[in-house]
Order: sequence, then structure tokens, then C-alpha cells
Amino acid sequence: MASPRVLSGIQPTADSFHLGNYLGAVRQYVAMQEGYDAFYCVVDLHAITVEYQAEVLRRRSRVAAAQLFAAGLDPDRSTVFVQSHVREHTELAWVLICLTGMGEAGRMTQFKDKSARYGEGSTGVGLFTYPILQAADILLYQANKVPVGADQKQHLELTRDLAQRFNHRFGETFTLPEPYIVKGVEKITDLQDPLAKMSKSSSSPAGILDLLEQPGPLRKKIMRAVTDTGSEIVFDEENKPGIANLLRIQSALTGTPIPELEARYAGQGYGTFKKDVAEAVEETFAPIRERTEKLLADEAALDRMLAAGAVKARAVAAETMEKVRDRAGFLPVA
Ligand code: TYM
Repeated sequence: MASPRVLSGIQPTADSFHLGNYLGAVRQYVAMQEGYDAFYCVVDLHAITVEYQAEVLRRRSRVAAAQLFAAGLDPDRSTVFVQSHVREHTELAWVLICLTGMGEAGRMTQFKDKSARYGEGSTGVGLFTYPILQAADILLYQANKVPVGADQKQHLELTRDLAQRFNHRFGETFTLPEPYIVKGVEKITDLQDPLAKMSKSSSSPAGILDLLEQPGPLRKKIMRAVTDTGSEIVFDEENKPGIANLLRIQSALTGTPIPELEARYAGQGYGTFKKDVAEAVEETFAPIRERTEKLLADEAALDRMLAAGAVKARAVAAETMEKVRDRAGFLPVA
């Protein structure tokens, strides 16, 4: 029997992924190469839903792809590709857009947050249809599982609704995908604002830990992370969200259960604990940073890896899209 499929996507909207992307998503991509037929894409078409510069996008797409390989995606086991290399994404998105209600799209909280942040004048229609393009990404590959952070849950629900709607109206075509969200790392928070998600677009530089950042600044940010009153290292989400976030991070990076960490740091101050968190972050980030730099030093080789990914992705996407065109009533080319 064929392995179940996994698909996920990540935006090239910053010069580096951050710890939230890594723990909430990328680490799962790597783990799921085992036992799944895995597809991962750098979603450059999603990145143009907000203001951007062409040259910056091109650079960031390569940086994103390099980080994926550097984090452990193996081109022999996973299909790693750039979304815009596979034309079917936009083609299927259009079909799905025509199945989506205005109210349904308007209820997406990420759209509401982003459009509020950018203001009505600079909110484009692309941002509104963003989740529908994401649904197309997933459904094209007939994905069973989609590893993401908690912020993508609503987009996954929309994807399932659209798949069911299409299947119901035109006959079984799409696999119903399930989100794969790992508890404990589904929402890594901002170091300066531990109730808010760590985010490329809204965190301050002091609140975000970039995968490609140098050890010095990383350590400084962790040592300066907002902690809470008192001095005990206990997991108390409500009263100590800063410490709870650092405990979750340390637990995920070292594989140590949180109660064990609480026992280990009993009677010790925040300083010792933060120093250990900084060490664990650096140990994880350093090899990824070094491999990313190496991959970026040979752009032609990196581009060839992505071209090979695109060939594999296109084969699957073309098969699904052929079915969709037929079911949806488009005339075949004679
Ligand atoms: P993006 O690029 O914003 O984020 C990439 C992945 O990182 C996760 N993530 C987090 N997880 C835990 N804590 C955080 N603070 C944190 N911040 C980000 C995100 O949940 C995501 O999994 N819409 C998607 C991109 C996308 C996609 C897809 C995902 C496009 N098409 C198809 C899955 C399948 C996004 O904005 O990701």
C-alpha cells in the first residue's frame, strides 16, 4: 500500500525562519519524511499577498528552501519545491475561489488580523483569497496530513469544507486532509510579549529568535526575555506565561518533560535556567545556520534541487488537476 501523503507550506516572507516556525512546523516536516510520502513547498505566491519587492522575494525564496534542506529535509525522501513552479496551484485556487462564499472567506481570523494591521487601503484581494490558495496547495497533492502550528487550524477547516463541497457537487475527487498539530509547540510565543504568537510580521526584533541569527544576539534576547514576578521555575500558563513559554521551548529542544525541568531548576533563579535555554537554542540553530550558508553559497546547485522537486510535484499536481477539469465541466483540448 502506498504511504500516506503529507504536505505543508512555508512563506518566504523574512530573511530567516524563527523558532516558532521551526518547532511548530519544520521539525515535524523532517520527522514525517519517515513513513509518509512528503511534499513541502516554499509558498512564494502567498508571499505576494502583502507588499513586497521582486528581488527580495527571489532571495528569500532561496533562503527559505536552503533552510528546509539544512534543517534535515532530504531531497531523496521528500519533494521540496517552490509553489510558483507548479502552475496548477493557481489554477485549482480559481476553481475553489468560485466555490467559496464571501462570508466564509471574511470569517478567517488571519485575514481579519492582517487587514486590520495593514489598513483597508493597502489590503488587497489576494490577502482575502489567501486561505483558498492554501486549500489548493493541500488538495492538489491529496494530502492526508498537514503539519502546521495552531494559527493554521481555521485554514485547514476551510480546506476540508471546500474539499467536501467539491466532492459532493462533482463526485469524489479530493482526499480530506487532517491538520497535524503537536501539543506544546503549536504556539511558541514572543519573548517580549509572551501572550502573543512569535511572528515574522508582528514580533519586535527582541521578541523573535531567528534560525539564522548569530549566537551573541540569540543569547542576549533569551537572557532579556520577559519573565514574570517571583523567581520560581514552574509551568503556570496563566500567571507565568513567560516562564511557561521558555519551559515549552526547553522541553521541545532537549526532549525533557516539563515536570522534570521544574524539578531540575527548583530553587534556582531565572538566570541559570535562561542560560541553559540559550545553550539549547544555539546547539539546535548552529548546524542549521552553517548548512544553510553552505547551500546558499552554490545557488545553481540549490536551484537544481528545486527544479528536481518541481518535476516530482508537477506530476502529482497534473494528475489531480486533470480530474478536476473533467469533473468541473471544462471541455478537453481536442
Ligand atoms: P507561515 O509561513 O506563516 O508559517 C510556517 C509554519 O510555521 C508555523 N508557525 C508557528 N508554529 C508555532 N508557533 C509559532 N509562533 C508559529 N509561527 C508560525 C505556522 O503555523 C506554519 O505551519 N499559511 C501558511 C503557509 C501555507 C501552508 C500551505 C501551510 C501556505 N500553503 C499549505 C500548510 C499547507 C503560513 O502562513 O505559514
